Amino acid sequence: MRQEAWWQDAVFYQVYVRSFADSDGDGVGDLEGIHSRLGYLELLGVDALWLTPFYRSPMADHGYDIADPRDVDPMFGTLGDFDVLLTEAHKRGIKVTVDVVPNHTSNQHAWFKSAMAAAPGSPERDRYIFRDGVGPTGEDPPNNWVSAFGGPAWTRVPDGQWYLHLFAPQQPDLNWANPEVAADLERTLRFWLERGVDGFRIDVAHGMAKPPGLPDMDPRADALGPSHYYDPRWDNDGVHEIHQMIRKVLDEFPDAMAVGEIWVTDEERLSRYLRPDELHLAFNFRLVLTHFDADAMRTAIERSLTVPAKVGAPATWTLGNHDVWRQVSRYGGGETGVRRARAMALVELALPGTVYLYNGEELGLANVELAPADMADPRAKTSGAEFGRDVSRVPLPWEGDLPPFGFSRNPRTWLPMPAEWAGLTVEKQIEDADSTLSLYRQAIELRKTHPAFGGDELEWYGAPAGCFAFRRRGGGLVCALNTSASPIALPPGEVLLSSSPLVDGKLPADSAAWLI
Ligand code: GLC
Repeated sequence: MRQEAWWQDAVFYQVYVRSFADSDGDGVGDLEGIHSRLGYLELLGVDALWLTPFYRSPMADHGYDIADPRDVDPMFGTLGDFDVLLTEAHKRGIKVTVDVVPNHTSNQHAWFKSAMAAAPGSPERDRYIFRDGVGPTGEDPPNNWVSAFGGPAWTRVPDGQWYLHLFAPQQPDLNWANPEVAADLERTLRFWLERGVDGFRIDVAHGMAKPPGLPDMDPRADALGPSHYYDPRWDNDGVHEIHQMIRKVLDEFPDAMAVGEIWVTDEERLSRYLRPDELHLAFNFRLVLTHFDADAMRTAIERSLTVPAKVGAPATWTLGNHDVWRQVSRYGGGETGVRRARAMALVELALPGTVYLYNGEELGLANVELAPADMADPRAKTSGAEFGRDVSRVPLPWEGDLPPFGFSRNPRTWLPMPAEWAGLTVEKQIEDADSTLSLYRQAIELRKTHPAFGGDELEWYGAPAGCFAFRRRGGGLVCALNTSASPIALPPGEVLLSSSPLVDGKLPADSAAWLI
């Protein structure tokens, strides 16, 4: 039996805090900026926010390198600002969830500083993963693991030992075999739960546990994503104990939830994280990994639905986040990319379960081409500009005709904003019934209020090549997608919403429609 909980069919909105709204003019978004734009989020109709890390950090990975997980970085505001944001969001009926990063800390965290000052074999070093190197003088790293950002996953310290970092060298991995590490995460969870947060997004939730002996990986394994090759860096069985610990804490707080960032696509392995004493939700990245093709999308949806079916958890859907290309660009860019992204928004919002939107997708934003000198992402530095994630992290355009479009009063935003966004500001789109923002608003509103969205199961219709149509078995909503090059006849029914205008009653190419 599935629990009836607020998050099970919620629309979450990911706020990339650096890029949402800047209140103090330093060119970087902050908590007060989010507070000032809550009216917008209410209009958009989202149920909950996921705020990316705003904790004390030297920002080597823009906040995913945390120096103190129980304080706000001055760049983003104060704990008082956080409390105000939380209270005001709650007044508007919007839940607030925050990121936690249990796999690693910053190298500026007090623990890592004391580990560096202490001797090999000391309790200070045991909170991280320090090892001697191999070779006559220990000059080679302890194993062949590579970092998700490229290059070796080990860095050598002056006394000759090496420490492990699955991400940047400024993000040393914690040793989860050390009980102090779990105790500290528990403190962090309670700290934010007691302040009133509604839940957490758990960063790299398939990391943390490391296998005994740290065996070599198959060098053919991908850097971060799921792989067919032997890759002992991720998804070790020991990770489940950690999720059980997290769940025990959450269960003391009524209605609190956690979603895990788990780059595991094998349905059986993924569903283990959703057992009743572990996570409530797991991100499902299949739609992100699938190109704009009806057959491929149908397979991705069907496979995604097998995960919740195994364990009785809600499905989750996401098309974009701060780590991947914006969907407009993934689907080919330009007008076609926008049409396809609008179509996929209707597909996603028609599906049963929880939806995660990424800020800016409701404006139809595409990747921004940045000069290598403007790139700030550590992955661009180690793996090459083409792997830089800045392209999908550019600050949001709110109003006016010129950058920074009301994001900040400072024209020097942390990433430059393109002048071409003048037509895509919230101000321009909000009154335009055909805008992407209006499409999202209508879709979210219908999803929330229309009885056709009931039921968890889908029934698939026969459809012409390049198209699909499914029906929500409980409520009866029909969603049709056309990824072919020509218009197709729609299934019978009354059209509730379409991602582009119908042509002679037909659904044009690169479009989706809802019918009842
Ligand atoms: C997650 C975050 C990503 C970050 C990494 C390391 O994948 O989403 O932005 O770089 O973890 O914390």
